[in-house]
Amino acid sequence: MDTTPAISRFDEFYKTTTPPWVIGEPQPAVVELEKGGLIRGKVLDVGCGTGEHTILLTGLGYDVLGIDFAPAAVEQARRNAEAKGVVARFEVADAMNLPGEPRYDTIVDSALFHIFDDADRPKYVASLHNACRPGGTVHVLALSDQGRGFGPEVSGETIRDAFADGWELEALEPATYRGVVTEVHTDAIGLPIGTRVDEPAWLARARRF
Ligand SMILES: C[S@@+](CC[C@H](N)C(=O)[O-])C[C@H]1O[C@@H](n2cnc3c(N)ncnc32)[C@H](O)[C@@H]1O
Repeated sequence: MDTTPAISRFDEFYKTTTPPWVIGEPQPAVVELEKGGLIRGKVLDVGCGTGEHTILLTGLGYDVLGIDFAPAAVEQARRNAEAKGVVARFEVADAMNLPGEPRYDTIVDSALFHIFDDADRPKYVASLHNACRPGGTVHVLALSDQGRGFGPEVSGETIRDAFADGWELEALEPATYRGVVTEVHTDAIGLPIGTRVDEPAWLARARRF
Protein backbone atom coordinates (compact mmCIF):
# COMPACT_ATOMS: atom_id res chain seq x y z
CA MET A 1 0.00 0.00 0.00
CA ASP A 2 1.27 3.48 -0.87
CA THR A 3 0.88 5.56 2.30
CA THR A 4 2.40 8.72 0.78
CA PRO A 5 -0.92 10.56 0.21
CA ALA A 6 -2.07 9.74 3.76
CA ILE A 7 1.25 10.94 5.21
CA SER A 8 0.96 14.22 3.31
CA ARG A 9 -2.65 14.69 4.45
CA PHE A 10 -1.81 14.22 8.13
CA ASP A 11 1.42 16.19 7.84
CA GLU A 12 -0.40 19.12 6.26
CA PHE A 13 -3.07 18.90 8.95
CA TYR A 14 -0.44 19.25 11.70
CA LYS A 15 1.26 22.12 9.88
CA THR A 16 -1.86 24.16 9.17
CA THR A 17 -4.33 23.45 12.00
CA THR A 18 -4.65 22.20 15.52
CA PRO A 19 -6.26 18.80 14.90
CA PRO A 20 -9.31 17.88 17.01
CA TRP A 21 -7.40 15.14 18.88
CA VAL A 22 -4.73 17.55 20.13
CA ILE A 23 -5.93 18.22 23.67
CA GLY A 24 -2.66 19.01 25.45
CA GLU A 25 -3.00 16.07 27.82
CA PRO A 26 -3.20 12.27 27.63
CA GLN A 27 -6.51 10.55 27.05
CA PRO A 28 -8.18 9.81 30.41
CA ALA A 29 -8.73 6.20 29.24
CA VAL A 30 -4.96 5.74 28.78
CA VAL A 31 -4.25 7.33 32.16
CA GLU A 32 -6.62 4.78 33.70
CA LEU A 33 -4.91 1.88 31.89
CA GLU A 34 -1.63 2.87 33.50
CA LYS A 35 -3.21 3.30 36.93
CA GLY A 36 -4.78 -0.13 36.51
CA GLY A 37 -1.37 -1.75 35.97
CA LEU A 38 -2.10 -2.61 32.33
CA ILE A 39 1.07 -1.09 30.88
CA ARG A 40 4.26 -3.10 31.26
CA GLY A 41 7.69 -3.70 29.76
CA LYS A 42 8.75 -2.08 26.51
CA VAL A 43 5.98 0.16 25.20
CA LEU A 44 5.15 1.37 21.68
CA ASP A 45 2.81 4.36 21.28
CA VAL A 46 1.67 3.85 17.71
CA GLY A 47 0.37 6.87 15.78
CA CYS A 48 1.56 8.99 18.70
CA GLY A 49 0.51 12.38 17.28
CA THR A 50 1.84 15.14 19.51
CA GLY A 51 3.12 12.54 21.95
CA GLU A 52 0.97 12.90 25.08
CA HIS A 53 0.97 9.18 25.89
CA THR A 54 4.67 8.70 25.24
CA ILE A 55 5.38 11.73 27.44
CA LEU A 56 3.07 10.51 30.22
CA LEU A 57 4.52 7.01 30.29
CA THR A 58 8.15 8.06 29.87
CA GLY A 59 7.67 10.51 32.75
CA LEU A 60 6.39 7.63 34.88
CA GLY A 61 9.52 5.59 34.14
CA TYR A 62 8.37 3.30 31.32
CA ASP A 63 10.60 2.45 28.35
CA VAL A 64 8.54 3.99 25.53
CA LEU A 65 8.91 4.80 21.85
CA GLY A 66 6.31 7.01 20.15
CA ILE A 67 6.02 6.66 16.38
CA ASP A 68 4.03 8.56 13.79
CA PHE A 69 4.33 8.61 10.02
CA ALA A 70 3.77 12.38 9.85
CA PRO A 71 7.10 14.20 10.34
CA ALA A 72 5.26 17.31 11.56
CA ALA A 73 3.58 15.26 14.31
CA VAL A 74 6.95 13.92 15.47
CA GLU A 75 8.45 17.43 15.47
CA GLN A 76 5.54 18.69 17.57
CA ALA A 77 5.81 15.68 19.89
CA ARG A 78 9.51 16.39 20.47
CA ARG A 79 8.78 20.05 21.23
CA ASN A 80 5.89 19.04 23.48
CA ALA A 81 8.14 16.67 25.46
CA GLU A 82 10.81 19.33 25.80
CA ALA A 83 8.26 21.87 27.02
CA LYS A 84 7.05 19.34 29.60
CA GLY A 85 10.62 18.57 30.69
CA VAL A 86 10.48 14.89 29.69
CA VAL A 87 13.23 13.18 27.68
CA ALA A 88 10.95 11.11 25.46
CA ARG A 89 11.79 9.14 22.30
CA PHE A 90 9.96 9.66 19.02
CA GLU A 91 10.57 8.37 15.50
CA VAL A 92 8.96 8.83 12.13
CA ALA A 93 7.70 5.35 11.18
CA ASP A 94 4.81 3.66 9.44
CA ALA A 95 2.50 1.61 11.65
CA MET A 96 1.67 -0.55 8.63
CA ASN A 97 5.28 -1.73 8.41
CA LEU A 98 6.48 -2.24 11.96
CA PRO A 99 9.76 -4.15 12.23
CA GLY A 100 9.44 -7.94 11.97
CA GLU A 101 11.21 -8.59 15.25
CA PRO A 102 8.68 -8.62 18.12
CA ARG A 103 10.02 -6.05 20.55
CA TYR A 104 7.14 -4.63 22.52
CA ASP A 105 5.29 -5.91 25.59
CA THR A 106 2.61 -3.23 25.38
CA ILE A 107 1.35 -1.30 22.36
CA VAL A 108 -0.92 1.69 22.89
CA ASP A 109 -3.12 2.66 19.94
CA SER A 110 -5.10 5.80 20.69
CA ALA A 111 -7.28 6.76 17.73
CA LEU A 112 -5.23 5.06 15.02
CA PHE A 113 -7.06 1.73 14.50
CA HIS A 114 -10.31 3.52 13.66
CA ILE A 115 -8.85 5.33 10.64
CA PHE A 116 -8.15 2.13 8.68
CA ASP A 117 -10.68 0.78 6.18
CA ASP A 118 -11.59 -2.88 5.66
CA ALA A 119 -8.67 -3.39 3.26
CA ASP A 120 -5.97 -1.84 5.45
CA ARG A 121 -7.15 -3.03 8.88
CA PRO A 122 -5.87 -6.63 8.48
CA LYS A 123 -2.49 -5.31 7.27
CA TYR A 124 -2.27 -2.99 10.27
CA VAL A 125 -3.16 -5.76 12.74
CA ALA A 126 -0.60 -8.07 11.07
CA SER A 127 1.99 -5.31 11.53
CA LEU A 128 1.04 -5.06 15.24
CA HIS A 129 1.43 -8.83 15.48
CA ASN A 130 4.98 -8.52 14.09
CA ALA A 131 5.91 -5.88 16.65
CA CYS A 132 4.26 -7.34 19.76
CA ARG A 133 6.00 -10.05 21.79
CA PRO A 134 4.08 -13.30 22.38
CA GLY A 135 2.01 -12.70 25.54
CA GLY A 136 2.19 -8.95 24.95
CA THR A 137 -0.80 -6.66 24.82
CA VAL A 138 -2.26 -4.15 22.40
CA HIS A 139 -4.65 -1.56 23.82
CA VAL A 140 -6.95 0.03 21.25
CA LEU A 141 -8.91 3.20 22.03
CA ALA A 142 -11.15 3.81 19.01
CA LEU A 143 -14.11 6.06 18.35
CA SER A 144 -17.31 4.02 18.51
CA ASP A 145 -20.12 3.77 15.97
CA GLN A 146 -22.40 4.82 18.85
CA GLY A 147 -20.93 8.32 18.44
CA ARG A 148 -22.14 11.38 16.58
CA GLY A 149 -19.47 11.63 13.89
CA PHE A 150 -16.57 13.25 15.72
CA GLY A 151 -14.23 11.26 13.48
CA PRO A 152 -13.91 7.83 11.86
CA GLU A 153 -15.86 5.31 13.92
CA VAL A 154 -15.80 1.53 14.30
CA SER A 155 -18.13 -1.07 15.75
CA GLY A 156 -17.19 -3.50 18.51
CA GLU A 157 -17.64 -6.26 15.93
CA THR A 158 -15.01 -4.69 13.70
CA ILE A 159 -12.51 -4.76 16.56
CA ARG A 160 -13.48 -8.33 17.48
CA ASP A 161 -13.04 -9.51 13.87
CA ALA A 162 -9.72 -7.71 13.45
CA PHE A 163 -8.19 -9.54 16.43
CA ALA A 164 -9.83 -12.92 15.76
CA ASP A 165 -6.68 -14.73 14.62
CA GLY A 166 -3.40 -14.77 16.51
CA TRP A 167 -4.84 -12.81 19.42
CA GLU A 168 -7.11 -13.28 22.41
CA LEU A 169 -9.45 -10.33 22.80
CA GLU A 170 -9.40 -10.07 26.60
CA ALA A 171 -11.57 -6.97 26.93
CA LEU A 172 -13.82 -4.78 24.80
CA GLU A 173 -15.49 -2.08 26.86
CA PRO A 174 -17.31 1.18 26.18
CA ALA A 175 -15.06 4.16 26.95
CA THR A 176 -14.65 7.77 25.85
CA TYR A 177 -12.20 9.62 23.63
CA ARG A 178 -11.57 13.27 24.47
CA GLY A 179 -11.34 15.80 21.66
CA VAL A 180 -11.91 19.41 20.75
CA VAL A 181 -14.72 20.60 18.46
CA THR A 182 -13.31 22.22 15.30
CA GLU A 183 -14.92 23.77 12.22
CA VAL A 184 -15.26 20.32 10.61
CA HIS A 185 -17.62 19.26 13.41
CA THR A 186 -20.10 22.11 13.46
CA ASP A 187 -22.79 20.05 11.64
CA ALA A 188 -22.20 16.70 13.33
CA ILE A 189 -21.67 17.95 16.89
CA GLY A 190 -23.52 21.30 17.00
CA LEU A 191 -21.32 22.78 19.73
CA PRO A 192 -19.09 25.87 19.59
CA ILE A 193 -15.59 25.48 18.17
CA GLY A 194 -13.11 24.85 20.96
CA THR A 195 -15.56 22.89 23.15
CA ARG A 196 -14.00 19.81 24.77
CA VAL A 197 -16.05 16.68 24.26
CA ASP A 198 -15.79 13.12 25.55
CA GLU A 199 -17.03 11.01 22.65
CA PRO A 200 -18.17 7.38 22.78
CA ALA A 201 -15.29 5.00 22.16
CA TRP A 202 -14.23 1.40 22.56
CA LEU A 203 -11.33 0.35 24.72
CA ALA A 204 -10.07 -3.06 23.65
CA ARG A 205 -7.29 -5.23 25.06
CA ALA A 206 -5.86 -7.92 22.78
CA ARG A 207 -3.19 -10.37 23.91
CA ARG A 208 -0.89 -11.77 21.25
CA PHE A 209 -0.55 -15.55 21.13
C1 LIG B 1 -6.31 10.62 15.29
S1 LIG B 1 -4.59 10.86 15.47
C2 LIG B 1 -4.33 10.28 17.12
C3 LIG B 1 -3.03 10.80 17.72
C4 LIG B 1 -2.76 10.35 19.15
N1 LIG B 1 -2.56 8.92 19.25
C5 LIG B 1 -3.86 10.82 20.08
O1 LIG B 1 -4.69 10.04 20.52
O2 LIG B 1 -3.85 12.02 20.35
C6 LIG B 1 -3.94 9.54 14.47
C7 LIG B 1 -2.43 9.65 14.29
O3 LIG B 1 -1.96 8.50 13.60
C8 LIG B 1 -1.01 8.90 12.64
N2 LIG B 1 -1.02 7.87 11.60
C9 LIG B 1 -1.98 7.59 10.69
N3 LIG B 1 -1.63 6.55 9.92
C10 LIG B 1 -0.41 6.14 10.37
C11 LIG B 1 0.49 5.12 9.98
N4 LIG B 1 0.22 4.28 8.96
N5 LIG B 1 1.65 5.01 10.65
C12 LIG B 1 1.97 5.84 11.67
N6 LIG B 1 1.16 6.85 12.08
C13 LIG B 1 -0.02 6.99 11.44
C14 LIG B 1 -1.45 10.29 12.18
O4 LIG B 1 -0.39 11.04 11.63
C15 LIG B 1 -1.98 10.86 13.49
O5 LIG B 1 -0.97 11.53 14.19
